[in-house]
Amino acid sequence: MKCCVVTLGCQMNQSDSERIRSVIEGMGYEMTSVEEEATLIGVVACSVRQKAIDKVYSKIQKWNQWKNKKPLVTFVSGCILPADEKKFLKLFDLVFRMNELPELPDMLHQCGVATEFSAMHPLNDLHREDERTDFWQVDPTYSSEFEAFVPIQNGCDKFCSYCAVPYTRGREVSRASDDILAEVKKLVERDVKAITLLGQNVNSYGLDKKGEEISFAELLRKVGELGQRSGKDFWLYFTSPHPRDMTRDVIEAIADYDCLAKQIHLPVQSGDEKLLRRMNRNHSIEDYLKIVDDIRELLPTATIFTDIIVGFSGETDEQLENSAALMERVKFNMAYIAKYSPRVGARSARWEDDISPQVKSERLARLSDVLKRTSLAHNEAMVGKVYRVLIDGRDRRVDGALTGRTEGKLPVRVLDGSEDRVGTICDVEITSVAELSLTGRIRQVR
Ligand code: 5AD
Ligand code: SF4
Repeated sequence: MKCCVVTLGCQMNQSDSERIRSVIEGMGYEMTSVEEEATLIGVVACSVRQKAIDKVYSKIQKWNQWKNKKPLVTFVSGCILPADEKKFLKLFDLVFRMNELPELPDMLHQCGVATEFSAMHPLNDLHREDERTDFWQVDPTYSSEFEAFVPIQNGCDKFCSYCAVPYTRGREVSRASDDILAEVKKLVERDVKAITLLGQNVNSYGLDKKGEEISFAELLRKVGELGQRSGKDFWLYFTSPHPRDMTRDVIEAIADYDCLAKQIHLPVQSGDEKLLRRMNRNHSIEDYLKIVDDIRELLPTATIFTDIIVGFSGETDEQLENSAALMERVKFNMAYIAKYSPRVGARSARWEDDISPQVKSERLARLSDVLKRTSLAHNEAMVGKVYRVLIDGRDRRVDGALTGRTEGKLPVRVLDGSEDRVGTICDVEITSVAELSLTGRIRQVR
């Protein structure tokens, strides 16, 4: 019995599908990446990008045709807008939400799937009537041996006007800190090198529990202590925080522990005050710059990444220039610049999408230029110095070379070194740099 799970969208969906795979493996299935081989096939969908939604529809149409030739059961989960959910119910055998994961074997059984569901399955011990966060207790089948994602929260309460997430994943729910710390501890003991705490709004962690849960800064400190006690070498990241909840104590915690990586991904979305308000971001440019100053003061080696949207409804040339000016000021190491597109369900979908595709492309190119310039200046200062690099694979473009990332998540091409270095942290001397990447040679294995 083989099962194929197709994952679309963000790291949160990747993490959800690792847990879905575990449950299905517990039913006696073997996982395959070849859709044609599977008799149980599912997709972890993303309603956030139109391209991803289109992909789900094209896949399910294909799979439904296969049903004429062979027995096949299909399911869909992930980030689904209510409007898509209605349509999916007609196309898929099963539509489920992640918090229903513990019931997945039963639900599949009802769809006619034969299971080898064992009494030893970990899900049998869970309290089903509890608040539905027990899916987090499923041990995931991690996709990498040296990198792992740990969900700490699901949903979002921020309602940025362009974003569909609050409608697909619902309100913010924090995972119990004891469970998070237990999962991180297990990963550290397994010698995992890069661990990322995941959530739509990680730094509002715990706020939904009204005083009964620790804060995000306290959670980071507990991971820091755990890391120190372990004596292991790893980097802990988190993504994404919201500027609104980025208090100084979060940055202080990162400064206090070596294992808390000096890399901050802090979405800003726009450098214009008025647009930020229309985006319902609930902070000012001044607030954002104050956080950046705190980062520069307390974490002088940190790299800063961001997300920016260009061509938001009503965005003027001047407002775009305000984003460019903010980028010049902050000197981001990386910016994920997206062209605005209306998302069904989000408030801004009711506003006119009045910036033409061509202008959006020009604005994206304008901001990319700023990014390349500031990032290059930063990278040039790294030449001749030695940095610790997590080697993560073979370089597909250059024979004999490896790829890796610095603690600050800057991509490095490592020209020498054998494949057995993959998954280890090595000292690499930077020999040359480009706008968004570095090249170097290994100095010594740790
Ligand atoms: N259009 C363009 N980009 C968007 N994002 C979220 N919604 C939209 C949208 N409607 C971007 C934001 C967010 C990232 C995950 O996706 O920059 O931070
Ligand atoms: Fe929540 Fe805004 Fe992030 Fe969307 S963009 S997930 S609404 S904080």
